[in-house]
Amino acid sequence: STTQLIDKFNRKVTYLRISVTDRCDFRCVYCMDEKMNFLPRAQLLTLEEIALIGQAFVELGVSKIRITGGEPLVRNNIMQLFDKLGQLDGLKELVLTTNGSQLQKLAQPLRDSGVKRINISLDSLRANRFTQITRVGQLSTVLKGIDAALQVGFERIKLNTVILKNRNEDEIIDLVNFAIDKGIDISFIEEMPLGVIGEHNRAEAYYSSDQIRQDIEQVFPFIPTTETTGGPAKYYRIPNTDTRVGFISPHSHNFCESCNRVRLTTEGRLLLCLGQEHSIDLRRVVRANPNNMEVLKQAIVKSMEIKPKGHDFDLTRQPIILRYMNMTGG
Ligand code: GTP
Ligand code: 5AD
Ligand code: SF4
Repeated sequence: STTQLIDKFNRKVTYLRISVTDRCDFRCVYCMDEKMNFLPRAQLLTLEEIALIGQAFVELGVSKIRITGGEPLVRNNIMQLFDKLGQLDGLKELVLTTNGSQLQKLAQPLRDSGVKRINISLDSLRANRFTQITRVGQLSTVLKGIDAALQVGFERIKLNTVILKNRNEDEIIDLVNFAIDKGIDISFIEEMPLGVIGEHNRAEAYYSSDQIRQDIEQVFPFIPTTETTGGPAKYYRIPNTDTRVGFISPHSHNFCESCNRVRLTTEGRLLLCLGQEHSIDLRRVVRANPNNMEVLKQAIVKSMEIKPKGHDFDLTRQPIILRYMNMTGG
């Protein structure tokens, strides 16, 4: 089906990101505060409601759905959702962003459900440091998860890395080498100011994509490409490897002009931009009109009128967006 979702700035929306839980088994320092309150279960969309909303988007021309969290794979019975979405006609790409902690057991079922690509967060290859950044995660578990994903043969696996100055910027080359060894991609992400985090100073931790690129160019030949995975990353190739290195640079190279995505939060808010609060309440629509696909689709089409032009992230001020990253999965 052709896209029926076009906003006031003439951007086509073909990519839906769904956060299926705000809970996570890690507490990454840039994502969550040390002490977090998670939503009561009654406020969450059910898996059936999520599947229905996903179907509505696909009928409106969305061709890519990414499942995020929190950590999506810690939600109870989550495979039921993948199995349902995997069967939607018209959905070209069902993809997942995960911290990797559950992949030893779930890589195979995910592959079987039709998930094409997965993105796995990895910020350090040093066990102690990995646990400091995630506050609780175990590196060895995630490395085994990455190997499990490699074994079941996804079309593409990508690492997501947030580089923080004075924490892990000395591992850029090691992480690129790791990606090359495994034959996978890696994206470097500039940290975004979502939610107030106690002891972590985002302005001080800022390490730009250009700086990372220069660090890599000291060691590897590096060729820009026009390839895209349909997300915000700009990719480079390292010759004679299978690795693409991506840069997601909300601060240094704003990509809002080419935005093609919207987000469904854990509570069923359809959020039109990661860095703004413009949203409509799809949970209310779904619950007031059970199984009424037309009403649901009309609400989604109408939401395009309020998709904002872009974010206003500013690391020098306190965050204006108080919701944390785990509500939207980034
Ligand atoms: P691909 O399909 O592989 O291109 O994935 P993706 O980059 O779209 O998704 P992923 O979940 O791996 O996200 C990587 C990073 O990009 C996360 O930090 C997201 O928050 C960020 N990101 C994705 N879309 C947007 C966006 O529209 N705006 C901003 N500011 N960041 C985004
Ligand atoms: N800024 C940038 N990236 C973030 N992530 C989590 N919080 C932030 C933030 N504040 C990353 C995770 C994961 C991806 C979905 O988003 O590390 O790889
Ligand atoms: Fe969990 Fe991902 Fe947030 Fe880390 S970035 S705490 S793994 S949701």
